[in-house]
Amino acid sequence: MKKIVIEGNQTLSGTINIDGAKNSAVALIPAAILSDEFTTIYNVPNISDKNVLINILKDLNCQVLETDNILNINSSSLKNVLIREDLTSKLRASYYFMGALLGKCKHVEICLPGGCNIGARPIDYHLKGFEQLGAKITIEDNKYIIDAKKLEGAKIYLDFPSVGATINIMLASVKASGTTIIYNAAKEPEIVNVATFLNNMGAKITGAGTSKIKIEGVEFLHKGIIEVIPDRIEAATYIIAGALVGNNLKINGVIKEHMESLLSKLSEMNVNYKLKDFELTISKTDNMKPVSIKSQVFPGFVTDMGQPMSVLLTQCDGISFFEETIYDNRMGHVKYLNNMGADIKVKENTEIICGKTKLQGKKVIATDLRAGASLVLAGLVADKTTEISQIDHILRGYANIVEKLNNVGAKVKIVDE
Ligand code: EPU
Repeated sequence: MKKIVIEGNQTLSGTINIDGAKNSAVALIPAAILSDEFTTIYNVPNISDKNVLINILKDLNCQVLETDNILNINSSSLKNVLIREDLTSKLRASYYFMGALLGKCKHVEICLPGGCNIGARPIDYHLKGFEQLGAKITIEDNKYIIDAKKLEGAKIYLDFPSVGATINIMLASVKASGTTIIYNAAKEPEIVNVATFLNNMGAKITGAGTSKIKIEGVEFLHKGIIEVIPDRIEAATYIIAGALVGNNLKINGVIKEHMESLLSKLSEMNVNYKLKDFELTISKTDNMKPVSIKSQVFPGFVTDMGQPMSVLLTQCDGISFFEETIYDNRMGHVKYLNNMGADIKVKENTEIICGKTKLQGKKVIATDLRAGASLVLAGLVADKTTEISQIDHILRGYANIVEKLNNVGAKVKIVDE
């Protein structure tokens, strides 16, 4: 077991380059098998979730060549075998092999997906979508068997604009006969990235990034390339680090349109930042104003930024509120931030954060990915040393986090527990 050790109170300056988005890459890798030729994915982040997905591809007899941040995937000799639980349980996004294999082979056998423990995470919209396309679903013990004699385009209305269901239905319908329309689709930038990849292979998808996505089925998907978009959650995490302990810290790879909700809150708080082209420069700001934030689907304030943002709110002068509306249990960070000296009360799904409080380094536990990110941020601004255990959660989603922070002046290391 490893832990991250952070010496607090160091000033960060220099440049942090943002890697490809985890939540895009984890969908693009399964999407690659839909190509009847081969595909290349650029700017793939060096995260453990990627390694698990590559292992699934290898089990499916796909050829995978990885050089630096580029993945070449050839699925022409694909063998459609059961996707094992020891792999599926490591991450949520293993469920994108449901849509991809159903779309390609009309048959999938896959064990239950895993992912962060942040509340109930049903996949009923995905399964209903597959059924509407003509699939039959059987659940046997710990596995789903999804089978279709024929996939036919359908009009699918999502009860909630789910990111995962929108992508999975696109993957399953791209080679169906006829036209599929997804109403109330999710609009997140990662969905546009996946649709662009499929269109590069010859798919006919329009409307990605809006709430109505139209997919005209095609018979063949040729070779395709795609670049993973920058990770807006990774960018947000380092932007918050800059607001806490930065001195002209530069974050390179910020797409303004992907981050309006965060940037406008930072302005409301009086945080000192400048964005030029794709580079955001940020410094520690004294006298930050408290704010109220509510997580929403894109372009609202993304739930994944909530836990990191809580740390910044502990440093505002006054009472801030963060209401989590997407997940029912995304508060794993609160206990540990309070151990470190924060004053956060949770009422239903709202954090009430009284600032400003001085944080002290402590031994803490990363209960999930973004909770872990929030503890790293707390460790950066705290006095003395913070030790974070269960760091596998953090390494699932933050590429080279220790190197990136040390390059800009932090004192962070990974050691054996
Ligand atoms: N939902 C259902 N039924 C479904 C699907 C979703 O009830 O069939 C509910 C969920 O329980 C949740 C809400 O709808 O309450 C939103 O779920 P969504 O499907 O949009 O989320 P997801 O696809 O499971 C992705 C990201 C999450 C991110 C959310 C929201 C991936 C692999 N995960 O999850 O990322 O929080 O979208 O933007 O793309 C993270 O990166 O830390 C993370 C958890």
